[in-house]
Amino acid sequence: MDEQFRVICVGGGPGGLFASLLLKKAFPRWDIKVFERNRADDTFGFGVVFSDETLGNLKEADPESFVLICEQFAHWDEIDVFHKGKQIRTGGHGFSGLERKRLLQILQGRCAEVGVDLHFEVEMNEDGLSEADLVLICDGVNSGLRAEGAEHFKPSLDWRPNRFVWMGSTMSFDAFTFYFKENEHGLWRVHAYQYVEGKSTFIVETTEEAWKRAGLENATEDENIAYCEALFEEELEGHPLLKNRSLWRQFPTVTNERWHWGNRVLMGDAAHTAHFSIGSGTKLAMEDGIDLRDALLEAESIEEGLALYQEKRKPVVESLQRAAQVSLEWFEDTERHFHRAEPEEFTFSLLTRSLRITHENLRLRDPDYITGMDKWFYERAVAEKDRKEGEVPPPLFTPFTVRDLTLDNRVVMSPMCMYSAKDGVPDDFHLVHLGSRASGGAGLIFTEMTNVSAEGRISPGCTGIYNDEQEAAWARIVTYVHQHSSSRIAIQLGHAGPKGSTKRLWEGMDEPLESGNWPLLAASAVPYSPINQTPKAMDMADMDRVTEEYVDAARRAVRAGFDMVEVHMAHGYLLASFVSPLTNQRTDEFGGSLDNRMRFPLRVFTAVRDVLPQGMPMSVRVSATDWAEGGNDGDDAVAIARMLQEAGCDLVDVSTGQTVKEQNPKYGRLYQTPFSDRIRNEVGIATLTVGGVMSYSDVNSILMAGRADLCMIARGHLYDPYWTRHAAVALGYSPDWPEQYKSLDRFNFRFD
Ligand SMILES: Cc1cc2nc3c(=O)[nH]c(=O)nc-3n(C[C@H](O)[C@H](O)[C@H](O)COP(=O)(O)OP(=O)(O)OC[C@H]3O[C@@H](n4cnc5c(N)ncnc54)[C@H](O)[C@@H]3O)c2cc1C
Ligand SMILES: Cc1cc2nc3c(=O)[nH]c(=O)nc-3n(C[C@H](O)[C@H](O)[C@H](O)COP(=O)(O)O)c2cc1C
Repeated sequence: MDEQFRVICVGGGPGGLFASLLLKKAFPRWDIKVFERNRADDTFGFGVVFSDETLGNLKEADPESFVLICEQFAHWDEIDVFHKGKQIRTGGHGFSGLERKRLLQILQGRCAEVGVDLHFEVEMNEDGLSEADLVLICDGVNSGLRAEGAEHFKPSLDWRPNRFVWMGSTMSFDAFTFYFKENEHGLWRVHAYQYVEGKSTFIVETTEEAWKRAGLENATEDENIAYCEALFEEELEGHPLLKNRSLWRQFPTVTNERWHWGNRVLMGDAAHTAHFSIGSGTKLAMEDGIDLRDALLEAESIEEGLALYQEKRKPVVESLQRAAQVSLEWFEDTERHFHRAEPEEFTFSLLTRSLRITHENLRLRDPDYITGMDKWFYERAVAEKDRKEGEVPPPLFTPFTVRDLTLDNRVVMSPMCMYSAKDGVPDDFHLVHLGSRASGGAGLIFTEMTNVSAEGRISPGCTGIYNDEQEAAWARIVTYVHQHSSSRIAIQLGHAGPKGSTKRLWEGMDEPLESGNWPLLAASAVPYSPINQTPKAMDMADMDRVTEEYVDAARRAVRAGFDMVEVHMAHGYLLASFVSPLTNQRTDEFGGSLDNRMRFPLRVFTAVRDVLPQGMPMSVRVSATDWAEGGNDGDDAVAIARMLQEAGCDLVDVSTGQTVKEQNPKYGRLYQTPFSDRIRNEVGIATLTVGGVMSYSDVNSILMAGRADLCMIARGHLYDPYWTRHAAVALGYSPDWPEQYKSLDRFNFRFD
């Protein structure tokens, strides 16, 4: 595009200036004007942070400003976390702090050098844009031009509940510092970092409730400073806090469906925001400029370039926004971790809060920290007399004990229906399927959902444990697992309820059988979908009978030698149909409130618990959210877990959804782990997490951060029955091959 285009950039923040600078360099003939309503050296805020990676991108884009930035910044590698009087320092993080004012001066200088025309103290509006061929909308988070074009951009502003105030300090922090401090009003979080010798950013954040209790609703800047100085007197060591529009604010997460309209393009905070706890707002704003330049260089017209820019840039930004969202939620829910966790777990949870940074990443950054944390985790989990000498395993290989059951490691093969049984009897397929997973090293393997009656099966291919033949077949498999592996084996007991009498998965998931359907039971006469049968709403006699079936199945499971029993209360099956208000429409004492809806599932739980040996643990799988309007959500899951805990449940197996057909789940890596984290830390009960647990490092991170006690892998075990042994090799830990396979150890044989 060689024409002499006229470009107007509205807003002279880092986003607008950097984009203008890069465009001018790429298209020297273009006439580029920046309009900024403030004076050149006015600026809100103190310092900004860049990671080493961001600096690399800036260097490539404009080496000259990179050199100037590097001359100015304060670089540090450490993060300090202060929790309940303990300071924990970790290294290798690689950040740089820079005064925002200096950054703007550098970018203004570079713009002037390359010929960008800068205009200060001009409030730009629609009238000034008519002559422009391209308009860069870089007017920040409260963008006026975005609002003008709202019907095209379709913006959404999610105002988060926490309150924060941005202040400065003359204190020199030698690490990125997080303080957590509780007073009579609540818990206060501080994010502090030095951006130039003797000057630091000091952001104080708290909940809306604490902010109100502290009487800060209408506080002036001076009152804010006074409150925070008094609260952090000890930490500030006599240094004052500095103000610069230091009023309490709420953070808006900004997204836009479209980033361009005609010749206008949204950039920086006008297009998207990322919470300050991941320190990426300025980075994102500046990197937008790099991608816009590249898109325009590739395109043949402005419109095509803007479309290309959105196509390439938006997914990258959205991915970072997802990480920022998890991070900001961690700071909204800090109370959950603050009170229960020890400083070590609290710090690890903080460092890995976005779920992007893992145990393995931290090992690379600071090996000594991870070595110390592995030891801390091991010693906390295993009594001194049971520890192996000189050996500190990673969390994944740290044993777990519940009642009389000790698991060798924390990997669990999640229950998976195989639809391959005849008349409910597990056969050679199940022996090899489960046996090979046990040989593969998982600490615990689960049977598929095994049904307590023939009518309780999902499909004709589902296993059961309601007659002697089935019991004997299960005993054979359990014996194999116990004789040929160190895995333990649990049975998941279920009754399909309204989702029963359907085809095998590969013949048509949840579709009724062509012929030979059997009648269904549920809490209410609500079919799972329009094509499914309408179940019978259970009466008392049905409930008594089904409870007895569970009890009989549990007795058989004990006789077959299983190490643990799980009752399935998730995924819309029989017991789940009572738990969810979407499927339970009863008006008797089994419907209505959550207490009532849990009455029958708890009755079944207690009846099963009563026939298990004292030392045998019991778990329950729950759907922690229905992912549907009007259904159960995270708050209900916490209440359900409390009821289960009171009833004597040892472990909550935290799954989600599949309650109703019209669900709207958010799948992805570790998509259910936040629910496990919440239940474990709010209720104080051990949890199993499942769903998108992708890597060995995910497992180590989840366990060390206290997000779960055990990690379940389902599809990963279909792909690789030897998942756990391969994890050991990858982690440099002894895979402890079975006797028959020890040749692998002896010759130090490696497959790469
Ligand atoms: C508490 C807090 C801490 C933060 N910490 C960090 C951090 O450590 N690291 C980091 O990278 N980011 C941080 N950020 C985010 C960062 O400040 C922004 O993401 C970044 O400034 C976005 O750049 P921008 O150019 O898009 O917008 P801005 O920097 O907001 O610039 C927009 C400019 O447009 C001007 N303007 C608006 N309307 C008009 C108009 N009509 N005419 C002319 N001019 C106009 C404004 O005056 C302003 O100068 C933080 C944000 C907050 C709230
Ligand atoms: C083929 C298959 C069968 C499944 N059967 C069951 C089951 O019987 N009981 C159950 O609770 N979950 C069942 N699930 C769900 C898994 O246990 C697990 O929660 C889910 O697959 C997410 O874990 P993943 O991401 O590791 O695969 C099944 C999943 C698959 C893929």
